Amino acid sequence: MDLNIHTIEDYNRIYDFSTKDPEGFWAAVADDYYWQKKWDKVLEWDFAKADIKWFQGAKLNITENCLDRHLEKDADKTAIIWEPNDPEEHFRKLSYKELHFKVCQFSHVLKNNGVKKGDRICLYMPMVPELAIAVLACARIGAIHSVVFGGFSAQSIADRINDAQCSLIITSDGGFRGSKEFPLKNIIDDALVQCRSVGKVIVLTRSRIPVSMIKGRDVWWEDEIRKVETHGNPDFPAEPMDAEDPLFILYTSGSTGKPKGVVHTCGGYMVYTGYTFKTVFQYQPNQIHFCTADIGWITGHSYIVYGPLSQGATTLMFEGIPTWPDAGRFWDIVDKYKVDIIYTAPTAIRSLMSFGDEPLKNKDLSSLKTLGSVGEPINEEAWHWYDQKIGKGKCPIVDTWWQTETGGIMISAIAGVTPLKPGYASLPIPGVQPILVDENGMEIEGNGVSGNLCIKFPWPGIIRTTYGDHERNRTNYFATYPNLYFTGDGCLRDQDGFYKITGRVDDVINVSGHRIGTAEVENAINMHADVIESAVVGYPHDIKGQGIYAFVILDVSLHDHELTKQDILQTVTRIIGAIAKPDKIQFVSGLPKTRSGKIMRRILRKISEKEFSSLGDTSTLLDPSVVEDIIQGAL
Ligand code: WTA
Repeated sequence: MDLNIHTIEDYNRIYDFSTKDPEGFWAAVADDYYWQKKWDKVLEWDFAKADIKWFQGAKLNITENCLDRHLEKDADKTAIIWEPNDPEEHFRKLSYKELHFKVCQFSHVLKNNGVKKGDRICLYMPMVPELAIAVLACARIGAIHSVVFGGFSAQSIADRINDAQCSLIITSDGGFRGSKEFPLKNIIDDALVQCRSVGKVIVLTRSRIPVSMIKGRDVWWEDEIRKVETHGNPDFPAEPMDAEDPLFILYTSGSTGKPKGVVHTCGGYMVYTGYTFKTVFQYQPNQIHFCTADIGWITGHSYIVYGPLSQGATTLMFEGIPTWPDAGRFWDIVDKYKVDIIYTAPTAIRSLMSFGDEPLKNKDLSSLKTLGSVGEPINEEAWHWYDQKIGKGKCPIVDTWWQTETGGIMISAIAGVTPLKPGYASLPIPGVQPILVDENGMEIEGNGVSGNLCIKFPWPGIIRTTYGDHERNRTNYFATYPNLYFTGDGCLRDQDGFYKITGRVDDVINVSGHRIGTAEVENAINMHADVIESAVVGYPHDIKGQGIYAFVILDVSLHDHELTKQDILQTVTRIIGAIAKPDKIQFVSGLPKTRSGKIMRRILRKISEKEFSSLGDTSTLLDPSVVEDIIQGAL
């Protein structure tokens, strides 16, 4: 069966096939990859146990699909273009042949440093090609990578290292982002005080700031590479992996507790990311794909590294930020490399929009064919700006809804095929079966309805487990509604059956497209010596989408309040990282609680939105008078 989609009729036909015969559909998609041994069984699943297995019996290595299989025809084709933070520094290009060589070389380095299949490796690195090389080398040797975003604090890194019991860390001396320099190795040193599982740290040279190098533990990347070169041919045979062997762990926030390690496996994740990359963006050979995410997030894993490389595309990696040295940086990059596909986040679009037309002057954006959006709902104003100013009204915008747990894009227009509606993720891609349910898990049928978004049938990229705690995976995603995967998002299905994601229905907030759990921020605030209790909610923020609003009870009133706020921000930065710093802190004398002691966040949310007149019924509160006090303080 021809799975190429050129028209909406093709889409309808293939979508139908994918729901009538999911296993036949996914077997056909999976046939496009190189398997050392094909599967015995396409799918086995039991949502009640959160037990899902794709392509059982198959053997593969994802790096053979991302590298080796392109060497015959496309050895000299550019795999990675790297644009440095500083536009004055020289860019780099790595062909598939060179990338293969470097991945093999670094696989030797890992092996020489004692890494074996199944070991967990933590990566804390800037956006340089060596990050992609290290990710792929882990995959090649069969080690499980856990990439931690460069904005997390030592404490957060330590928590993640300990949860996964990582044996080796890969980092760099420092890194650059905009006008700032980050001391990555120093932060790792602070983290490692708490981590007993780590025996080795490999340190890449990037900013060459002074770092402490501990004998027997810390080694330089460049020295280790030199040792391999003396061994001659760096070819490194790809480890045969079972389809369901873990490929990586990526930590993400939920509504309760500490971040959980989402586990993706080799076979299903490979099939799903490659398929969605090709289908959604309608990627054509020789196009240049620029995903502006950081590899520290799922978007970078799936659409900078694995998806594009498995399809033999040229993927562009950018080290810096959209507004430095000026707000024309993305457009300079598009112009310089003649980018075909740009994939970015609404928060970046809104931020760039606020600079007006000046940064767009003299930028040739005519190479662009497809524009992508991800991470949060895109408001109509930003959508139209993206469409008109960047796409010049001729590039389809794919608003892609998905999650760390889904591995790849789930609901999205297919570029050039699906009719577009601003603000709508639009239709499920073939293979994805969304349903809307009410509070009790009853399906809400028909069009023109809203409900909680669930998925009723597995897809190959679905989360397999939360590392070290399968029960948590089951209760988080598969227990809210029996026999459904629950996304945590609210959703509208309009008269035409088009889906619009309306935002999280749980206590997760989405700040600049980054997921942050309110409980996590509250725990961090509560670590401050003067804090008795706190409650955190998200509120609408012009650029970030949502901002963080913290209501805090102090146990002393003598202190300088402004300074105490600064101290609290510093505490949150220490415990989680600067990305979780509240935008607003309000000191309060009490929190609105029910008689059973539960904080009524609904009321706090309304107050943070300054909607004082629609607080709803407050008579069931333990002490209704606190609400009036909080309102006074918020004015
Ligand atoms: C939100 C990012 C609206 C949503 C890939 C989801 C979106 C969470 C969209 C996952 C979109 C992502 N429209 N909301 N196109 N894409 N979201 O795990 O709330 O960092 O549950 O994965 O982001 O965030 P995560």
